[in-house]
Amino acid sequence: MTNPSLLILAGDGIGPEVMTEVRKVIDWFGAKRDLKFDVSEDLVGGCAYDKHGTPLHDDTMAKAQEVDAVLLGAVGGPKYDTLDFSVKPERGLLRLRKEMDLYANLRPAQCFDALADFSSLKKDVVAGLDIMIVRELTSGIYFGEPRGIIEEGNERVGINTQRYTESEIDRVARSAFELAMRRDKKLCSMEKANVMESGVLWREVVTEVAKDYPEVELSHMYADAGAMQLCRWPKQFDVIVTDNLFGDLLSDAAAMLTGSLGMLPSASLGAPMANGRPKALYEPVHGSAPDIAGQGKANPIACVLSFAMALRYSFDQGDEATRLEQAIEKVLADGYRTADLLGEEGKQPVSTSEMGDAIVAALDASL
Ligand code: NAD
Ligand code: IPM
Ligand code: MN
Repeated sequence: MTNPSLLILAGDGIGPEVMTEVRKVIDWFGAKRDLKFDVSEDLVGGCAYDKHGTPLHDDTMAKAQEVDAVLLGAVGGPKYDTLDFSVKPERGLLRLRKEMDLYANLRPAQCFDALADFSSLKKDVVAGLDIMIVRELTSGIYFGEPRGIIEEGNERVGINTQRYTESEIDRVARSAFELAMRRDKKLCSMEKANVMESGVLWREVVTEVAKDYPEVELSHMYADAGAMQLCRWPKQFDVIVTDNLFGDLLSDAAAMLTGSLGMLPSASLGAPMANGRPKALYEPVHGSAPDIAGQGKANPIACVLSFAMALRYSFDQGDEATRLEQAIEKVLADGYRTADLLGEEGKQPVSTSEMGDAIVAALDASL
C-alpha cells in the first residue's frame, strides 16, 4: 500500500519556521508510530511570486488537487503589500480554497487548562472552553461579483459583493450540523439578517436544513451580537456556523479566548474525493507575523495542531491526533511558553524550535 500524500506549502514569514517544527512531528509519527506520509513541498504566496511571478503556480495548484491533504503555513508580508492585487500572496491561498472547493473551514477554539490564566478574559470565562467555528470559505463577499475599484464621476469607488446561493449555504450548514451531532448537539448560526438579504436567505436555509437534524438545538444570532457574546460568555456556544467574512473576524476574536493567535489551527474541507477522504487543506489561523519573522519567536502550536486535525479528518487517525493534542497539553502544563504566551512578567520564553523539540519529547513520553 502506498503512503498517504501530503503537500507542504510553508509560505512566507513565520510559515517556514513553524512548518520546520511540524516536520519534526511528522517524522516522529513515521519513525515511532509507523505512520508514514509521502511528503512533497512547494511554494505559495510571496515566495512563489518571487520565483514565478505568481503567488500560486499552476503546477502547484495541480499537485494540491492530487494529494490526500495540503498543509499550509502562512502567506504575505510587507514586501508584497504594494503588488498588484491580482498577484498578492493572499490570492494564492484564496485560489487554493476556491479551486479545491474547500467550503467548510473548521476553526476550533479550545482553551488549554495551562493557559486559562493567560487569556485577556477572566479565567472562569475561558477555562474548559471548547467551541468550533465553521466558516464558509469559498463564497460570500470574498468572491462575489461585481468587484473592483472603478471611476464614478470624479472619484473612485471600491466594490465588493456579498452573494450566497442556497446550495452554498445548505452544504456548509450540513457540515456544521454533522459536527454538532458529534459534539454537544448545539448549533448557533450567525449572520446579519436584520440588514442583509444574504443574511435573510442564510437564516431561512439553515432553518430548513435543521429539519434533517432534529436532535440539534439550533439558535440564530446577529453576528455583531455574536461577537459580543463570544467575549462575554463563550461557553454558551458549541458549534457556530457563519459566512466567510464574519467567520474570519469571529475566529480571530475566538483565538484570543485561547490565549494567542499562535494556538489556533484550522481545517478547510471540501467534498469527498474518490477515495472517500474530503479534499482538505490544513493551516493555522494566524498569518505570516512579519513583526516576529526570522527571530525564532513564533509559536508553532497552531500549525502542529493543524497537522493533528489532518490526522483526524483526512487520515482516520483520531487516536493519534489525540496523542498529539495531549502532548501539547503536557508541554504547556510543564511551563513551556513561546513569547506570545508570556505576559509582561519577564519570564524567559522558549524559542520556536525548543517548543517543537518539547512536543516531540512529550510524544516520546506518551509511548
Ligand atoms: P498575523 O496573524 O500575521 O499577526 C497578528 C499578530 O499575531 C502579530 O503581532 C503576530 O506577531 C502575532 N502572531 C501571529 N501568529 C503568531 C504565532 N504563531 N506565534 C506568535 N505570535 C503570532 O496577522 P497580520 O499581521 O494582520 O498579517 C500579516 C500578514 O499575514 C498579512 O500579509 C496578511 O495578509 C497575512 N495573513 C495570512 C494568513 C494566512 O496565510 N492564512 C492569515 C492571516 C494573515
Ligand atoms: C485567514 C486569513 C485570510 C482570509 C487571508 C490571508 C486571505 O486572514 O485565513 O483567516 O482573510 O481568509
Ligand atoms: Mn483571518
